[in-house]
Amino acid sequence: MKITLLTYLEKEDADEYDVVVDQVAEALKGAGHKPSILGVHGDVNKLVSGLRRRKPDLVFNLMEMFGKNIRGDVAVAGLLELLGVSFTGGGPGELYLRQDKGLAKKVLAFEKILYPDFAVFSQDDMETGGNLRMPLFVKPLRTDASIGISGAKSLVRNGAAMMKQVLSIHENLKDSALAEEYIEGREFYVGVLGNGTAKAFPPIEMDFSGLPEGAPHVLDSKAKWAENSAEFKGTKSVMASVSDEVRARLQEVSLSAYRALRVRDYGRVDLRLTETGDIYVIEVNANCYLERTGEFAVAAEAAGIPYESLVNQIAELAIERHKQAT
Ligand SMILES: Nc1ncnc2c1ncn2[C@@H]1O[C@H](COP(=O)(O)OP(=O)(O)O)[C@@H](O)[C@H]1O
Ligand SMILES: [Mg+2]
Repeated sequence: MKITLLTYLEKEDADEYDVVVDQVAEALKGAGHKPSILGVHGDVNKLVSGLRRRKPDLVFNLMEMFGKNIRGDVAVAGLLELLGVSFTGGGPGELYLRQDKGLAKKVLAFEKILYPDFAVFSQDDMETGGNLRMPLFVKPLRTDASIGISGAKSLVRNGAAMMKQVLSIHENLKDSALAEEYIEGREFYVGVLGNGTAKAFPPIEMDFSGLPEGAPHVLDSKAKWAENSAEFKGTKSVMASVSDEVRARLQEVSLSAYRALRVRDYGRVDLRLTETGDIYVIEVNANCYLERTGEFAVAAEAAGIPYESLVNQIAELAIERHKQAT
């Protein structure tokens, strides 16, 4: 197949893109496909003409934002849908459903999946579902990648600290804020692959034991991105060492959440396990990061699916899904 890898560029004329792009391209090439790379920052015409020229059989969608819009992945998927090309991962509706963490929780509620209780503060409105217990964790409603999350500031113990964080999210990210109950406990990530008969990988655990004494055990933006910070150095993901029973329950909850939120092809579910044994879904990531050493690919490997096979299975799942829909 002719496969176009669609990726985000920091600037329209940038010649560097995320490391994951070459890894995916290599894996596809290894299976006999013809990959090409289309990098776009925020130029719609370039995106459309690039695809028209290449006429790919499949777009491998690695586009996580568009221009300066960190939530632009939804619209990009919409454009791909209008162009009639088959592409990996979620369509616009599916991606929106997981991007809006408040809406996603309401869907999980119907499936009786546990999630932290919450309140949404939009810029001009406030929606609470009932009484919330302090401490709360305040984060952006739709912005991901731990942007706007700081262990010290997001974890709040009173109304004043909560409002300060809410207003900071309104102002700095132009996003609504989500205040949810803080779930104390171990943090796990479960990768899921497939449509219809999806398969859950063995859980990965985030090990917070290297964080400074007293620091909240959360994966904030420093822990994710600031390589020289104590937060980054103090956190690492490891294969989870849990009982068979806990592993099975983590996988079962993850599959239910994946299905409930209509994730397509592949995704990763973030969970927390409390001391009393309850499993909460923190969020569901559609089109999760596919980097070779990332949580999803490492878990796939542990499930007996090497990287090259993982990438090619995602491509095949997308093609198969598209065939069935048309
Ligand atoms: N309700 C919560 N209770 C405890 N920790 C949380 C909660 N919400 C988020 N976190 C922490 O913040 C991190 C990032 O939050 P998440 O909702 O996964 O956002 P992102 O989309 O930015 O990854 C999580 O991995 C977890 O460590
Ligand atoms: Mg997350």
